[in-house]
Amino acid sequence: MTQQAAAASRYAESLRLSVAPMMDWTDRHCRVFHRLLAPTARLYTEMVHANAVIHGDRERLLGFDPVEQPLALQLGGSEPTLLAQAARIAQDWGYDEVNLNCGCPSDRVQAGRFGACLMREPALVADCVAAMVAAVDIPVTVKCRLGVDEDNDYEVFASFVDRQAEAGAGMVVVHARNAWLKGLSPKENREVPPLRHDWAYRLKQERPALPVVLNGGLASVEAVQAQDGKVDGVMLGRAAYHDPYLLHRLDTLQAGSPLQSRQDLLRALRPYVEAHLASGAALKHITRHILGLFHGQPGGRAFRQILSEGAHRPGADWALLEQALVVTVREGDRAAA
Ligand SMILES: Cc1cc2nc3c(=O)[nH]c(=O)nc-3n(C[C@H](O)[C@H](O)[C@H](O)COP(=O)(O)O)c2cc1C
Repeated sequence: MTQQAAAASRYAESLRLSVAPMMDWTDRHCRVFHRLLAPTARLYTEMVHANAVIHGDRERLLGFDPVEQPLALQLGGSEPTLLAQAARIAQDWGYDEVNLNCGCPSDRVQAGRFGACLMREPALVADCVAAMVAAVDIPVTVKCRLGVDEDNDYEVFASFVDRQAEAGAGMVVVHARNAWLKGLSPKENREVPPLRHDWAYRLKQERPALPVVLNGGLASVEAVQAQDGKVDGVMLGRAAYHDPYLLHRLDTLQAGSPLQSRQDLLRALRPYVEAHLASGAALKHITRHILGLFHGQPGGRAFRQILSEGAHRPGADWALLEQALVVTVREGDRAAA
């Protein structure tokens, strides 16, 4: 198999499990860590506005380590020509996919006329998708909600998706709840509007040729396994971040590969951490993403505490992680005794 064919097949397989785009969370350090845990998953960047891609500091906004691939850049915006330009830049940087955000409900995003409010503008979104598809060879995908505010019509949601598929979107990620544009914070908008996974199932059933990924509230192996056969894949956000070992369990189950211990996975991150420190950067930029590695385990609290307190100190290095591991394992042994 050529290198290109291998990458294409890895990308196609990664549809089954992805880690959601999350602002301030899924930065490049986080993604390298998630990649170690989930070698076959598809990873997403934080949302970046098309204007920032075009005019901003590209190394800071778009730079990634090849180990992160398969990797999608999530774009925000609603101007077809800008999005097309940004998609082209993403392709040139080596991204495997560009994804258009039609789900973010924040006031700032609404004011800029992008994110979730685009659910009410299917024709404009289709123009954006078509412009991006015309500009690149990599897949263009859409992440959306079921609707906004009081919308409660499955047909309206399905016709939004159809428009995007007709415009060339290769896959849709359904965050299976509405976004309420007035009166709820973005955080509440991930919790309060009720989940309706059945809309995603119906979408898939009625449109078997369209790849559909389900997102929203999936937080255990059982919850993910319950989606088998109903959708093409799942996307995990908060659970993947707060309990990253869950990602490892899901990935190994899907890939049929052996489960590694949390300690071994963490130690596999050492070369990356040391290269980061050698470049003059601080340990805390990486450790903030790994605090949840021992989530729910005896010693998990000590692990989190040692890292969150120690990583801020000047000169903090790999030894802190070893120290955290020693204490965590000791506490685990004590709890088991
Ligand atoms: C801190 C945070 C930041 C987020 N930022 C984005 C974003 O940039 N783009 C996006 O499409 N969704 C964003 N989301 C929403 C997630 O991608 C996901 O749709 C949502 O959390 C529901 O999935 P979950 O229940 O698995 O967490 C964010 C969520 C969180 C918790």
